Amino acid sequence: GPASLRAPVVALIGLPGSGKSTIGRQLARLWSMRFVDSDHVIEQRLGCSIREFFEREGEQAFRDMESQVIDELSASTSSLLLSTGGGVVLREQNRRHLHARTQVFYLDCTPEAIAARLRNDVTRPLLQVEDPALRLRELLLQREPLYLETAHFVIQTSGLSVAQAAQRIRMQA
Ligand code: S3P
Repeated sequence: GPASLRAPVVALIGLPGSGKSTIGRQLARLWSMRFVDSDHVIEQRLGCSIREFFEREGEQAFRDMESQVIDELSASTSSLLLSTGGGVVLREQNRRHLHARTQVFYLDCTPEAIAARLRNDVTRPLLQVEDPALRLRELLLQREPLYLETAHFVIQTSGLSVAQAAQRIRMQA
């Protein structure tokens, strides 16, 4: 990674579908960092998809596992590009760990831009509703202050390609 980074871990936060993992993969390639998606780590530990786990055990059980994984990954001493789940900021412990231990970029994207991109995506349990854009607006209302509190940098990504968004982050870092 670049010398100017203040921590070995760079974390991306933002709404579901804001591009955390696609942009994260691109950045990891550019910076020669290991890429880790916390949702993927969680699914490996659970041995099933997050969607199945949500349905079977409920959201709180998922959040417990998520906090455990974020605690571990945020403390990594080797360089890591960390893509997180959209709800990671809901717990105060996660916000504190991410902000204190990692360099956090909030990918700020409009609900409308996300809804357009996610049409036909059935992997996100929180967006399996009649009007995903409305759901995303509700999520943003609840979470935006939490994203802003956790982030060191805010990156506007609506209308940008993955490459353009990655470039914007590189210029901020
Ligand atoms: C969630 C977002 C998901 C995943 C879980 C909960 C949320 O990750 O962690 O389904 O609460 O916003 P993505 O942001 O990658 O969709």
